[in-house]
Amino acid sequence: MDLLVYGIGELATPIGQEPNRGAGQGELTVVRDAYVLVRDGRIAEVGAGRWPRFAGPTLDAEGRTVTPGLVDPHTHAVFAGNRVQEFLARARGEKYTGGGILTTVQAVREAPEGELVRLARPRLLRMLELGATTVEIKSGYGLTTADELKMLRAIRRLGEELPLTLVPTFLGAHAFPPEVSRENYIRLMVEEMIPVVAGTGLARFCDVFCDQGFYTIEEARTILLAARAAGLGVKIHADELAWVGAAELAGELSATSAEHLLHVSQSGIEAMAHAGTVAVLLPGTAFVLDEPWPPARDLIAAGVPVALGTDFNPGSSPVASLPLILALAVLRMGMSPAEALVAATLNAAAAIGLADRVGSLEPGKQADLVVWDAESYEEIPYWIGQNLAWAVVARGRVGWRSSPTPSST
Ligand code: NIG
Ligand code: FE
Repeated sequence: MDLLVYGIGELATPIGQEPNRGAGQGELTVVRDAYVLVRDGRIAEVGAGRWPRFAGPTLDAEGRTVTPGLVDPHTHAVFAGNRVQEFLARARGEKYTGGGILTTVQAVREAPEGELVRLARPRLLRMLELGATTVEIKSGYGLTTADELKMLRAIRRLGEELPLTLVPTFLGAHAFPPEVSRENYIRLMVEEMIPVVAGTGLARFCDVFCDQGFYTIEEARTILLAARAAGLGVKIHADELAWVGAAELAGELSATSAEHLLHVSQSGIEAMAHAGTVAVLLPGTAFVLDEPWPPARDLIAAGVPVALGTDFNPGSSPVASLPLILALAVLRMGMSPAEALVAATLNAAAAIGLADRVGSLEPGKQADLVVWDAESYEEIPYWIGQNLAWAVVARGRVGWRSSPTPSST
């Protein structure tokens, strides 16, 4: 797909195929009066001033701001049912312990694959409208081989059908299925689920919920070593509900990412920095569960690359908006708008192993970009709860356009 986007007032993008970290976390290239030329769905040229003659389709940004398409590196966007009663109970002051996951497991087990696709489609399209062009989605509401594979096949189908780039993660170790013993379930994952998932290519990563009341460090290590041996990348839901040493394990295993980290320790931070593990911070969860904000500044100070995601799921974070996440990061986590934008583009891409393909606007990368109805990228976290996305381009195609405001007569 070819396209020329011109008339860009401000283009803001990180550069490179490696995540930004430390003092460089917020490093952005900002170009005024810019254009982006796309050939075959990839960026051919990013320039300033006079744009080249072009015979193909064009998009006039009319002075607006352009950034890379946002990358959401952590969601549970495929599910059935909802947990509005749990939401209301929490609003009355009840504490989240993760028990509600099994409510969603029940609903997912009852839903055929096509139903999971039908339910997830509009959610993902709303994420696209909010500026996301790449989304990681985890399984983990099936907890049997058949139901986990059903979820992963649903993710594959959604990726084939939608303009978004989807990255599937196997999260069989999300909770414990009620009908088998803990030991037997872990054996099933290691001996059956992981080999099948890796063999069919239905997932790129394996993730484990390593936390209080969920998988222990030893169990997580066993599962993740088996996953790595089978060729899957390694991710950990780490120290979300309490400190258990999961970030330390992420460092030990050189995990691609450790996610949540609301209760991470300094030694966990250091282990991650040493291993180059990306921190995926999910402030929507802290907001919804009334937990401490993820310690972005400590991680950045230690040189850990920080990424941001929604954790979109029906329980702990019914939040599909990355722009809202950027607002929380800027207002509550001490991140600058530049650091937050990098966290939701290049660094998020690195957290899902795609930094060579998405996350920045430069020649060779996939032509994923957002035209924001803003004079500067700094407004993205500023206009809270509004959707400034004006056009979203995915793989060189306009995937979504905001409808024009009706003119008053
Ligand atoms: O990322 N932490 C574990 N899993 C999800 C919660 C999923 C759910 O509540 O359904 C999370 O917060
Ligand atoms: Fe999660």
